[in-house]
Amino acid sequence: MKTYSIALIPGDGIGPAVTEAAWQVVEAVARGADFTVHATRLPWSCDHYLETGAMMPEDGVEILRGRDAILLGAVGWPRKVPDSISLHGLLLPIRKAFRQYANIRPHRLLPGVEGPLRKSEFDILCVRENTEGEYSGAGGRVHQGTEDEVAVETAIFTRKGVERILRFGFEQARRRRGKLASVTKSNAQRHSMVFWDEVTHELAREYSDVEVTSYHIDAMAARMVMAPETLDVVVASNLFGDVLTDLGAAIQGGLGFAASANLNPDRSTLSMFEPVHGSAPDIAHLGIANPIAAIWSASMMLDHLGETDAAARIMQAIEAITARGMGTVPGEHKTDDITRAVLTALH
Ligand code: NAD
Ligand code: IPM
Ligand code: MN
Repeated sequence: MKTYSIALIPGDGIGPAVTEAAWQVVEAVARGADFTVHATRLPWSCDHYLETGAMMPEDGVEILRGRDAILLGAVGWPRKVPDSISLHGLLLPIRKAFRQYANIRPHRLLPGVEGPLRKSEFDILCVRENTEGEYSGAGGRVHQGTEDEVAVETAIFTRKGVERILRFGFEQARRRRGKLASVTKSNAQRHSMVFWDEVTHELAREYSDVEVTSYHIDAMAARMVMAPETLDVVVASNLFGDVLTDLGAAIQGGLGFAASANLNPDRSTLSMFEPVHGSAPDIAHLGIANPIAAIWSASMMLDHLGETDAAARIMQAIEAITARGMGTVPGEHKTDDITRAVLTALH
């Protein structure tokens, strides 16, 4: 029987609660299937940083290598550790080290979830570049604290990086409804974003079966609210994709419903699965974090591992409980009650 070795990084705030919920669901679905799962729980978090001086050990990436996947909760607790340290010490280096260049984030309303829009028919797959662009980390500060202070943060767009994320988007569009929206800001940023538009047009010739439209990020933000039903696959750079996917989360009812996969599409190394949301310090100790985003992310993990039936069973269980109003209104149900309901629906 196939066994999957999964690294669990619960992290901070609501991370541990939602990761534990997702893991319970993974274990339950595995019991009824022909594979087993094994978890290695890694305590890497802001508390770990305060204890050891590092978010993860020096050989953290090596510890993860060799697992089949990573399931992560959330990282960051800005009152204890600056975000610029915690995220650059854990989440962001993992995405880069394992070349998880495609961050895919589905935005659709689960049955029973109303969302803030008056329309409900949309099904968007955001494909976010995940290893370069505005998150490249190139830059620096000089004359700190003086009136001559300078801060430089250079966005880096490589042909390899832009082409592979767009190609991934085109492939997704082919498998879905055949529409690709490429998002830039090439009217203002005339180097990197014009380059991105050019690569989009080059590839469009190869994927003549896909209907391609280029949008500026500002217009896309409005479209996601006013006409989300016109969108299928949306491809964007790292930072643009980050912002658009919190907007996507909002139109699907909130961050408690937004799942994501950090994929290494060529499968040369492992991928990571995590909800879009962060550690939610404002509700962290109330026991009311919605675990659905994390459970949905776990379903994406099983799907990526090839356990498509188990992945589908999890989605059916989630949809069965939201259809009867369980977990659809923020704060109305406890994390544990929603998790128990999903577990019951699985049987
Ligand atoms: P956040 O996503 O943690 O919270 C934003 C709002 O959404 C809050 O009001 C929160 O209560 C709510 N929310 C989030 N997840 C929820 C859930 N599952 N159920 C119900 N409500 C939920 O964003 P933030 O407050 O900007 O960030 C908090 C910390 O998390 C920061 O340190 C930030 O850097 C970090 N962060 C980490 C990740 C990650 O690990 N992938 C993602 C985003 C933010
Ligand atoms: C996300 C998060 C991260 C990002 C932060 C915490 C660095 O917001 O996964 O969307 O910007 O990628
Ligand atoms: Mn984000």
